[in-house]
Amino acid sequence: MELTLDSPLDMHLHLRDGDMLKLTAPLSADFAGAVIMPNLVPPVTTPDMMLAYAERVREALDGAAFTPYMTLFFTALGEKELTAAASAPGFFGFKLYPAGITTNSEGGVSNLTEAEHTLRLMEETGIPLLVHGESHGFVMDREQEFLSVYRHLASTYPKLRICMEHITTAAAVELLDEFPNLCATVTLQHLLITLDEVAGGMLQPHLFCKPIAKRPADREALLQAALSGHPRLMFGSDSAPHPRCKKEACGCAAGVFTAPVALPKLAELFTTHGAADKLQDFVSGNACRLYGLTPTPKKVTLSDSPMQVPSRYCSFGQEVVPMYAGQTLPWSIKA
Ligand code: NCD
Ligand code: ZN
Repeated sequence: MELTLDSPLDMHLHLRDGDMLKLTAPLSADFAGAVIMPNLVPPVTTPDMMLAYAERVREALDGAAFTPYMTLFFTALGEKELTAAASAPGFFGFKLYPAGITTNSEGGVSNLTEAEHTLRLMEETGIPLLVHGESHGFVMDREQEFLSVYRHLASTYPKLRICMEHITTAAAVELLDEFPNLCATVTLQHLLITLDEVAGGMLQPHLFCKPIAKRPADREALLQAALSGHPRLMFGSDSAPHPRCKKEACGCAAGVFTAPVALPKLAELFTTHGAADKLQDFVSGNACRLYGLTPTPKKVTLSDSPMQVPSRYCSFGQEVVPMYAGQTLPWSIKA
């Protein structure tokens, strides 16, 4: 069996920088493009930083037909700065992190009232707001506790396009249907695993990410929303590579490296559930409609011949362990 996708997009991707960027960028190049996260050290906060980063991303892609949709790390900005950002080539939107909530987010927002003026301007200029939606509460409740913030944002700024990034709960899926200006991304791992796979047996550091995987009912709700073709749910891998020594460590960094297995696993997931016809919209169509994107035409064919996942990817002095390391997957990308 084969499945051909037109211009698949990854709407939430961490490529990192330097040697790690050189390793990761080619491993996402089967996608036609991706929304590139700005949580570098230091975070990408100015158009100049963003343009320089986009150039490094393009160099690392080495000619691959792949569009980096660039983001800026949200900070409170005035009209002039916002206009400069909006007109920078390749700019896609702002990513808002609550301060200290995840990897390299210390410079995030600690008080939403400081952001009000900027959010109003974004609403007026049509700039999308991408949000890491977690509170600082108990780890399993962080997303649910943040839903009141999404409600507040969606009703206060009814024309602002707000993306709930990497949703992990049934409650977030329900919230999508309350506000037409909300959309969401969901990762591969949150469609596949629960907290059981992370910590129910021996601790699996390579499956540890923020937000943490939740309960079976949550995974089921996410999966049903994806398989049923929810028009405002998009694939965003949140593929978040960390060096092996930072994952297999006392004090494990959060992030699952899924880029190399994302498309084969999605093909497997959608075909085994009889929803192959819904995959195109999930990995591209919905994002194109919601954000008005016209990605580079690119066809990717997946087939049900096995993929042997490397136990690790090593190059440029970097070593990263992918999800399903060392395993054989039933689907692969056709060369
Ligand atoms: C991401 C990272 O490592 O940059 N980690 C993660 O667990 N998802 C940051 C993020 O998206 O929260
Ligand atoms: Zn992320």
